[in-house]
Amino acid sequence: MPGKELFGEEERKEINDVLATGILFRYGHDALRNNHWKAKDFETEVKKITGAKFAHAMSSGSTAIATALAASGIGAGDEVIVPPFTFMATIEAVLFIGALPVFAEIDETLCLSAEGIKQAITKKTKGVCLVHMCGAMAEMDSIMKVINENKLILVEDAGQSFSSSYKGTYTGLFGKAGSYSFDFFKIATAGEGGVLVTNDETTYKKADVYSDHGHNHEGNNRGMENHPYLGFNYRISELHAAIGLVQTRRVPAIKEKNRHNKQFLINELSKTTGISFSRLADPDGDSATHLNLFLPDTEAAKRTVTELRTANVGGFDYWFLNMYHFINQWDHIKEMRTVSKLPIEILGAPQDYKNLQLPKTQEVIGKLISFGVSCKWTEPEMRELATKISACVTKAIKPVNA
Ligand SMILES: Cc1ncc(COP(=O)(O)O)c(C=O)c1O
Repeated sequence: MPGKELFGEEERKEINDVLATGILFRYGHDALRNNHWKAKDFETEVKKITGAKFAHAMSSGSTAIATALAASGIGAGDEVIVPPFTFMATIEAVLFIGALPVFAEIDETLCLSAEGIKQAITKKTKGVCLVHMCGAMAEMDSIMKVINENKLILVEDAGQSFSSSYKGTYTGLFGKAGSYSFDFFKIATAGEGGVLVTNDETTYKKADVYSDHGHNHEGNNRGMENHPYLGFNYRISELHAAIGLVQTRRVPAIKEKNRHNKQFLINELSKTTGISFSRLADPDGDSATHLNLFLPDTEAAKRTVTELRTANVGGFDYWFLNMYHFINQWDHIKEMRTVSKLPIEILGAPQDYKNLQLPKTQEVIGKLISFGVSCKWTEPEMRELATKISACVTKAIKPVNA
């Protein structure tokens, strides 16, 4: 459920702090800013929740994952294993830093599986960009085994899974660097924003420099700062950070509500023949933003979607047909339609993207219907929703001649 459901007085107060000074820029202007450092405060809140040693707030989850990849040492010509089920941004980030995406199989966790990663490794594989999908987490024990055995760099796109964890470690902190999105649709929003996390100081410093035109942020004369590396502008503004920091403070309460509401619906829907649920690698670590239903197969899921639409039930995604989250609709990648030439067009793609065989992924995403969980639902609302979903599924899976 998105933090936007709880936008209120506290967000307005933090924005007004920034408006009162007019210092919308996150760096410098010490004498004028009345000691307001919203980007730094946002980073502190993210560190409090995740336990990350370092956090760096940026303009978006997209720029945060691109920076995480670059700061981890992944670049032009490197093969990076990616999932075929993720928001487009993951793949775009890999492509735009010059690297070469290699698609591998996911499993019922909705994330890359250890076996999928293993099968996709080649001599040129430099790293894995693991995506923790739908508020949940990947199966980290088996994945870390493959990563370590093959000496790969792990970067985690936890864009959808801020505050989720696996056996006590927060998503984003298993590999060299990770990222969260704080766009308008996430558990906490900054309007637009992203945060990179890492426990490695060198990676953090590279990210800090890379995301601000190479500035090393030392001294008090911005124009005379040293520039150890080339970078670009992926900065967050103080206004966005002001919202992000309040929303991040709200996350523990949101997560508790989400988990309660999701469990309520699971209890109700478990009684319906034909419904099962995606597998949580660690049920205690779920941020519970999504209720992920599995129907018996793709055809049953498609019929259920039709029934839900007929019954005017909203608030769900059928990713199998989604243009931005599933590879089946990514024609622009398959045909390499780019505005201007990318390194992959010169280096050559590592796979034939038009003819990928990912049967497990097709099966899992085909039968998946995800409902966004609201932290504001009342019990009667949830009961009504469960009744409607249940009726739609029952209709959709009844034998044709019944
Ligand atoms: C997995 C994942 N990665 C990255 C992003 C990109 O985040 P943003 O919209 O903040 O750029 C998203 C956004 O939905 C996402 O779901």
